[in-house]
Amino acid sequence: MANIEAIRWVDGNLVLIDQTKIPLSLEYYTCRDYGDVIHAIKEMIVRGAPAIGAAAAYGVATAARDLKCGNEGEYLEKLEKACQEIYDSRPTAVNLMWAVDRQRKAIMSVAARSGGSPTLESDMERELLLEANLILKEDIETNMTMAGHGQEVVGSGYTILTHCNTGALATGGYGTALGVVRKAHESGKNVFVFADETRPRLQGGKLTAWELLQEGIPSKLIVDSTAATLIRDGRIDVVLVGADRITRNGDTANKIGTFMLSSLAKTYNVPFYVVAPTTTIDFDMECGSMIEIEERDKSEMTHMNGIRVLPDEIECFNPAFDVTPNENISGIITEKGILRPPFSESIAAIRR
Ligand code: MRU
Repeated sequence: MANIEAIRWVDGNLVLIDQTKIPLSLEYYTCRDYGDVIHAIKEMIVRGAPAIGAAAAYGVATAARDLKCGNEGEYLEKLEKACQEIYDSRPTAVNLMWAVDRQRKAIMSVAARSGGSPTLESDMERELLLEANLILKEDIETNMTMAGHGQEVVGSGYTILTHCNTGALATGGYGTALGVVRKAHESGKNVFVFADETRPRLQGGKLTAWELLQEGIPSKLIVDSTAATLIRDGRIDVVLVGADRITRNGDTANKIGTFMLSSLAKTYNVPFYVVAPTTTIDFDMECGSMIEIEERDKSEMTHMNGIRVLPDEIECFNPAFDVTPNENISGIITEKGILRPPFSESIAAIRR
């Protein structure tokens, strides 16, 4: 198994694989302060819901390391301001908010324990780093467990269609949907993958293709619009995608184009599975229409690798995600098992 570590803490700093550079070069981006972590999330140096969450947790730890001031009230205020700035860095993937909120809880418990003590700031620095390490470790373990559960829906010799990048780069390691694929390949199931290139940022073409090649998983890259023909012609056994936010009724926000795939899969009776950790479920949100969908700069459409390929003057609409309605989803593969429709019941059950 190739050891792709998109997120590491090295010599006191968060170090990320720069995902804007793959596959042309493997470069690392060192976050010297929490502002760099925000920059990395916004510019998608780190991307993919679970990876964004882990990076955000390290962002809070980085802020705790830097915001020394000797005055407890002022220190906690500055730390909360940093938490909120990190929380606001991208709107759709709920793992980001989940991770910041988990660090907020850690902050409260350290403050309750060490408040008034001169060691508060060093205690905070240590504890928030431990919490970030734990979030990263848990995510990798979760991915491995999900990959195991996912084997139930992937038979020997299956051809799998996937979208965007849901692999080791998008997570703490191993991957969600691509983790299921990886595990199937490792178990000798002889699977074949069609990977959508995923316009406009080409996460499928740049990142998933790179990971598939590293792993030696038999695959072909397709332009997004080829998926319809493959599905109609019976050449896809199962569609596996990741998620950025799943609401209480099972509606799922994921990379733009996922909704279209799910509709095709439903029309042609191809099983369509979402693979996501429970940290991607927003238990406070009732349905998909409530999810904020990030709109990104039009240059993502008009330019490729910094070179303009479309008319500059053209108006563009560039939502980064769409929402797949729960009725298009055969199941949601989580670390707690495969959730089946009706999702409002199966999701409520795992919450309990
Ligand atoms: O805009 P991105 O690249 O962060 O979007 C990523 C996706 O939509 C992934 O499918 C999702 O985060 C699941 S990653 C395990």
